[in-house]
Amino acid sequence: MAQEEVFKKLVAHCKEYGFVFPSSEIYDGLSAVYDYGQNGVELKNNLKKYWWDSMVFLHENIVGLDSDIFMHPSIWKASGHVDAFNDPLIDNTDSKKRYRADVLIEDKLAKYEAKMDKEVEKAGKKFGETFDEKEFRETNLRVLDNRKKWDTLHERYKKAMNDEDFKELKQIIIDEEIVCPVSGTRNWTDVRQFNLMFSTEMGSTSDGSMKVYLRPETAQGVFVNYLNVQKTGRMKIPFGIAQIGKAFRNEIVARQFIFRMREFEQMEMEFFVAPGTELEWFEKWKAFRMKWHENLGFGKENYRFHVHEKLAHYANAAVDIEYKFPFGFKEVEGIHSRTDFDLSQHQKFSGKKISYYDPERKESYTPYVVETSIGLDRMFLEVLSASYCEEEVSTAKGGKEIRVVMKIPPVLAPVKVAVMPLVRKDGLAEKGKEIFDDLKFDFNCTYDDKDSIGKRYRRMDALGTPFCITLDYQTLEDNTVTVRYRDSMKQERIPVSKIKEMVTEQVSSKILLKKLMK
Ligand code: GAP
Repeated sequence: MAQEEVFKKLVAHCKEYGFVFPSSEIYDGLSAVYDYGQNGVELKNNLKKYWWDSMVFLHENIVGLDSDIFMHPSIWKASGHVDAFNDPLIDNTDSKKRYRADVLIEDKLAKYEAKMDKEVEKAGKKFGETFDEKEFRETNLRVLDNRKKWDTLHERYKKAMNDEDFKELKQIIIDEEIVCPVSGTRNWTDVRQFNLMFSTEMGSTSDGSMKVYLRPETAQGVFVNYLNVQKTGRMKIPFGIAQIGKAFRNEIVARQFIFRMREFEQMEMEFFVAPGTELEWFEKWKAFRMKWHENLGFGKENYRFHVHEKLAHYANAAVDIEYKFPFGFKEVEGIHSRTDFDLSQHQKFSGKKISYYDPERKESYTPYVVETSIGLDRMFLEVLSASYCEEEVSTAKGGKEIRVVMKIPPVLAPVKVAVMPLVRKDGLAEKGKEIFDDLKFDFNCTYDDKDSIGKRYRRMDALGTPFCITLDYQTLEDNTVTVRYRDSMKQERIPVSKIKEMVTEQVSSKILLKKLMK
C-alpha cells in the first residue's frame, strides 16, 4: 500500500478509536489544533512517563521543573525570540496561499531523494540477492543525475539560509520551477520574515496592560529558574533540569496532522556543563537520546541524524533525530549545544548575576548548556506510525479478513487488559467484574461484554490492547481464564491468580528502562 494511503488510514483510525480528534470539530475545526481522546491521553501519559523516568529517575544529576507558560516579556527579548524567531514566508499570488520558502525547497530536495530511492528499489527487485546498492548508487546514471541536482540545490539553499538571503531563496524557488500545489502556477511574492510567537494582554487596560507571549519553547522557563534550582537543590555541575509542558507557535504551514501544530507539548532537558566540555556532552546526549528511541523496537533503520544546515542564533552544534514517518524522514527531536548564550543573556537583561563557582576548577563561570528537546506530539505520531498494521487473518467460518492492529509496545499501550466474559449470564458477568475490580488498581483495564467475542477482539486490536482475558463456564469451575495475545493472537489458559503477574511482566516500565541502561 502507498505510504500516503497508510497515513490517511492512520489519521482516520486515530479519530475512530479515540486517539486524536480535530479541535472544535462541531464548529468545523481550528487549523493545526487537535485534541487527544480517551485512548490518546493514556498513550501520551505513558510516553511522558517513559521520558520522565528515563531522564529524571535514571540520572541522579537531573531534576524536574514545572514552570508557567506566561513569563515576563523581557525573557523573550533576552532569548532572541522577539527579534529572531521567524520563518521565511512566501505567497502565491494566484491561489493566495502562504508557504514557508524553506519548506518548499526542502520538499524539492526530498523529491530528488525519492527519485534516487525509487531507482534503487526498482533495481533491488530486479537483481534480488546479488544487488549491490552502494555500487548501484555510485554508477547508475539516473541516480547520479539526481544526486548532482540534489547537491547543487542543497549547497545553494544552505548558503541562502545561513546568509538570510531572502532574494536568493525566492530565486531558488523560481529556478527549481517550484509550483504552488493549489494553483499550479509560479507567481510568487517576495520572501518575508514572519514571527511565530503568539501574544496576548495581561492585566486590565485601566491598570495598564502588558503584552505577554505564549511560550514558543519550555526551555526559557528552565533558564530563568537555573539559580533557584541550583541553589535549593545544591546541584553540582554537570547537572540537568527536565520539564514537560505546552509550547505555542503560530505555524504558517500546518501540515501532516499532529506533526506541525500551533499548540503542542515539548519534553526538554537542559544540561548545565563547564565551558569547554559542551561538545563532549553533546555527543553523549546524542547517543543516549538515539538509544532511547531505538529502545522502543521500531527498527534502527527508521532513524537517522540530520546535522543542521543553519545553526540557531544560540547554538554551536545541533542535530536532529529523524524518524521515517509514512511521509518521509522528519525531525522528532533536536539536540543542541546552546553555549552560555541563554544564561548570559538573562544575566544581561535581568541584571542578576548568574554564575557558578566550580570547586574543582576553583573558578566561577557562566555554565554552558546542552539541550535535548523532543516534541511529545511528534513522538506520539512516531509510535502510531510504527504500530499501525493491517494483517490478513482467517475467520471462524474459514474465510479471510483484514484485521487492523496497533502493535504499540505493551508498556505504552493505552489499555493494558480487556476483561471479557463470553456471555453476560449465569454469573460470568459478575466474575468478570470481580477480576476487573482487582486488576484496576494496577493497570488501565477495560471491561467489555457487548457483541461477539471476535468483534471484541478486533476492537481491542484496533486500540492496541496487548491482553484480552476471556471468561467462560470453565472459569466458574476451576478459576482459570483464557489469555489472548494481541500480536500472535495465540490463546492460553491460565489461573486467575496468575493474571496480574503475567501482565506486570510485560507492561512494567522497568523492562524498557533496564534495557535502556544496559
Ligand atoms: N528548545 C529548543 C526547541 O524548541 P525546536 O527544534 O524548535 O527546538 C524541539 O523544537 C522539538 O519540538 C522538535 O524536534 C519537535 O519535535 C517539536 N516541535 C517543534 N515545533 C512543533 C510544532 N509546530 N508542532 C509539533 N511539534 C513541534
